[in-house]
Amino acid sequence: MHGEVVMAGPPKVFHKRDFPVAEVRRFLEPGPIVLVSSAWKGERNIMTLGWHMVMGFEPSLLACYIWEENHSFSLIRRSRQCVINLPAAELVDTVVGIGNCSGTEGDKFERFGLTAQRATQVDAPLIGQCHSSFECKLHDGSQVGKHGLFIWEVVKAHVAATPKIPTTLHYRGEGRFMVSGPDISRRSRFKPGNL
Ligand SMILES: Cc1cc2nc3c(=O)[nH]c(=O)nc-3n(C[C@H](O)[C@H](O)[C@H](O)COP(=O)(O)O)c2cc1C
Repeated sequence: MHGEVVMAGPPKVFHKRDFPVAEVRRFLEPGPIVLVSSAWKGERNIMTLGWHMVMGFEPSLLACYIWEENHSFSLIRRSRQCVINLPAAELVDTVVGIGNCSGTEGDKFERFGLTAQRATQVDAPLIGQCHSSFECKLHDGSQVGKHGLFIWEVVKAHVAATPKIPTTLHYRGEGRFMVSGPDISRRSRFKPGNL
């Protein structure tokens, strides 16, 4: 076994539904790899991103570290918007491919056979083959210059009805990923405010 994720045919396009923005932490708190899509003046792009964190529910805030050498950085800084898309483990080769080439070399939606879907609140497209897509607008850009840290408000969330808990990718470094595992509950032992 070499940790290969076997794909059965091309990845499907998920049918996503509206989802409460205050609940997006259910998907992002475990720290999965995400695909960040962006658009600026007729150009669109996608990058792979592992460094993100949840910062609040209402408003629904997320922070992302984006290296300024990435082509996405300039599209995202100028447009002050993006879509954070959650790929399931089957997309591992797409995740690696997108994270190891530049949008200056050509359109990554075409190159990786991904479906761009229209967002409702931002110009950046949703990625059809991702389980969930979160439309974001810049909430606080004060840490972008010093730390490359964008603080986003999620203004619209789209989530597939099934699977309820997608199998996600978690980057360990050195080209290795962890795949999310079984779900266990200790709900009865939590203070309600910590759930
Ligand atoms: C697993 C993985 C995780 C990554 N995480 C980040 C990240 O958190 N922040 C970042 O700026 N770049 C990250 N990258 C690198 C970008 O995805 C990569 O530089 C990409 O080529 C940028 O594309 P662009 O130049 O078209 O924007 C990651 C790449 C991989 C493969």
